[in-house]
Amino acid sequence: MFEKFEPPPEDPIIQLIGIIRNDPRPEKIDMGVGVFMNDHGQTPVLSVVRKAEELLHAQQTTKAYVGVAGNETFNSEIIRLAFGDSADMQRTRGIQTPGGCGALRMLSDMLYRVAPDRKVWVTDPTWGNHYPIFRGSGFEVDSYPYLDWNTRTVDIDRMMSGLSTLGQGDIVVFHACCHNPSGAELSPDDWDEIARLASQNGFFPFFDMAYQGFGDSLQSDAYSIRKMAREVEAMVVASSCSKNFGLYRERTGCAMLVGESAATADVARAQLLNTARSSYSMPPDHGAALVAMILADPQLRHEWEEELRTMRERILGLRSRMSLALRETSGTPDWDFIADHRGMFSLLVLDKQQVERLRTDHAVYCVAGGRINIAGLKNADEIQRFADALVAVTR
Ligand code: LMR
Repeated sequence: MFEKFEPPPEDPIIQLIGIIRNDPRPEKIDMGVGVFMNDHGQTPVLSVVRKAEELLHAQQTTKAYVGVAGNETFNSEIIRLAFGDSADMQRTRGIQTPGGCGALRMLSDMLYRVAPDRKVWVTDPTWGNHYPIFRGSGFEVDSYPYLDWNTRTVDIDRMMSGLSTLGQGDIVVFHACCHNPSGAELSPDDWDEIARLASQNGFFPFFDMAYQGFGDSLQSDAYSIRKMAREVEAMVVASSCSKNFGLYRERTGCAMLVGESAATADVARAQLLNTARSSYSMPPDHGAALVAMILADPQLRHEWEEELRTMRERILGLRSRMSLALRETSGTPDWDFIADHRGMFSLLVLDKQQVERLRTDHAVYCVAGGRINIAGLKNADEIQRFADALVAVTR
């Protein structure tokens, strides 16, 4: 049986985790996988999460199954977080999933059941795992223009002309905020135009929202989704609590959908549940139970929003200090775009040799193409070391 196997392609992000771990150099700088790190290089458990864990421990009376849809308080709180208080709850549904990745895959599998001939379009570039997820469902996947590789801003003209060729046979994947890998963001005006085009041409919007609250605020990071939901009849959103609640290993996500009517939303949700049941059956409880507790309790929610703000402000602060250090070290404004990017990542657009030299000569790790996790820098000394290394390899 297994002798027929060829080794599968390596996932560059997962591979990098192992490489960094095995590097004995104490001065190594880890800007690889997308986890938030504090000034000490740690990915802490949020203190509000610890509090909720204590409450949960005291209150939990059973470990019986949570059900295929998971925690219903979690589902409705996450829907409200994404779609806002004015969400059309008549037509919006959600189910808890194992992480944002689980939400992406369940939504994709569900859509493939109803629209196997449609083509999925992802941004160029996009998160590496988008391709295997949508292809794994059976879809053909292609890309539409997103990044201007010179300015590292969104190439909105090319993006809009790419999207204008798409229509009812297409599913278009959008990053709701904090684009991964580029960090280049769309403005509210851009989203208005995109939503108008979706409604006019009839392509189906599929949002990946893994970083709500890491860009500018919980509200403004959801502008894209809220605008689109007002314009189109149906859409889906995969959201993740890995980053904004720091619950990476608890695999906590939500698959959401907006249907044309309450009735179609109900049937689509039933299909989603059926997809989940034939995959992992039921989601794990712990992370979603904590999130439900935090979002439903005004005091805990306030504490969470403050902790989220601290994480966001650390990243924004690092962005301006980094671009300043790079301006001084390189003597050029070439890296100023880092300050304008949002979320955890910026794509520096480096070639293979440059990424390799950062690793071997400077113990600085980033993902292929030069995607850096900004939060990987601990202090002023590391910011300067990173700036020196980057200028040295790009000179
Ligand atoms: C990343 O892009 O680094 C994160 O989303 C983690 C992952 O699973 O790839």
